[in-house]
Amino acid sequence: MIEMIKVDISNVWGQVSLPDLLAMEKEVFEAHKTLTEGTGAGNDFLGWLNLPVTEPTEEMKRIMAAAKKIRSDSDVCVVVGIGGSYLGPRAAIELLQGPNHNMGKGKGNPQIYFAGNGLSTRHWNELMRLLEGKDFSVVVISKSGTTTEPAIAFRGLKWMMERKYGTDECRKRIYAVTDAARGALRQMADEEGWETFIIPDDVGGRFSVLTPVGLLPIAVAGIDIMEMLKGAYEAKQAYDLRSFENPVWLYAASRNLLYRHGKVIELFESYEPGFKMMGGWWQQLFGESEGKDGKGIFPATAELTADLHSLGQMIQQGERNMFETMVRFDAPEQKMVIGSDVKNLDGLNYIAGKTLDFVDEKAYLGTVAAHVDGGVPVISIDCGELNDKKMGEMFYFFELSCGISAYVLGVNPFNQPGVELYKANMFRLLGKPGYAK
Ligand code: PA5
Repeated sequence: MIEMIKVDISNVWGQVSLPDLLAMEKEVFEAHKTLTEGTGAGNDFLGWLNLPVTEPTEEMKRIMAAAKKIRSDSDVCVVVGIGGSYLGPRAAIELLQGPNHNMGKGKGNPQIYFAGNGLSTRHWNELMRLLEGKDFSVVVISKSGTTTEPAIAFRGLKWMMERKYGTDECRKRIYAVTDAARGALRQMADEEGWETFIIPDDVGGRFSVLTPVGLLPIAVAGIDIMEMLKGAYEAKQAYDLRSFENPVWLYAASRNLLYRHGKVIELFESYEPGFKMMGGWWQQLFGESEGKDGKGIFPATAELTADLHSLGQMIQQGERNMFETMVRFDAPEQKMVIGSDVKNLDGLNYIAGKTLDFVDEKAYLGTVAAHVDGGVPVISIDCGELNDKKMGEMFYFFELSCGISAYVLGVNPFNQPGVELYKANMFRLLGKPGYAK
């Protein structure tokens, strides 16, 4: 069984009180029950609760086979998708393998680039340069199969690929992850004969990382997806606990309580540069789930210690409307020891012989103390050792926290009516048929 993620809320007292938190027990209990019994708003999107498994399904076996093929015949795998069809796999790959995970990679262990997550021509041109002279495959991901950004990128990549390889070989290098029956991508895939993987109807984009949306790109990166799913499976058992001994409860309750006390911004932070996209995934998860009906904690992210040198001033002395959630991991086994220097011109000899993670720990403790003194409550989340299994556990931990937290807030966690409006305007401006001028 997994060792549970630890949530420490000792640094929120002063702003909120223990009796206030304990008074929320019934609310959190009801929210958890509503979620797991499927009696709340959005209950037709609860498929993510059942994604963690310990044995591979037939589709997972196909995912692993496809990943093996891409790894053997491609220098580069381009993953096309946006929002929930992109953030999860990128988060896992960058956290487990680092932001520079593509360095030195090629056939056998391909580089992975993400496309279709914006409309930048510069980004597209860079991708074209990166693909020059390289063998590549494309994994195109879209649940609706009609989202503009990935559709445009995919059209361009398909055109390039057809010219490079011809239609027959192309068929073996395009993999579509989409709806079982609906959408333009499904229609194209069926017509062209590409291998497809299904995003279940009852799983929304931001909860889809443990479907083929996340599993295929993550397997292409060489990460053990069965270990990841095992972590999520064990998390499902462990975090079903119905008391404040459950760290999911502590996180969901304390963030709601802080919100009720005027803390309307949550700054989600880690001391790992590889965590940046995990922050992006978390931001979509909580932002799209909670930001509605005029309510919601604004989900912001920061990378420490880097952003202490930019946002630090604002956190320490700006408007007192935020709290921080700091995510920590065990230090890696391979250490960096700070050396001694005879001249000591940089004055660092006082920490000679110490490891970098020792300094990092003191920076963390020092930051928490300073920010708490400055009136910013801090929730600490200790995830322990970072590995493939932990990744699955973390995804499930935050998804469950989000579902419970949103029900405590009193909103439907599983819809996103607000994201359609910009699209309607864009289509009108582009002159898309059916959108009045
Ligand atoms: O969570 C969501 O619903 C969105 O972020 C979608 O995932 C995003 O818009 C991409 O949609 P699709 O997978 O249909 O292309």
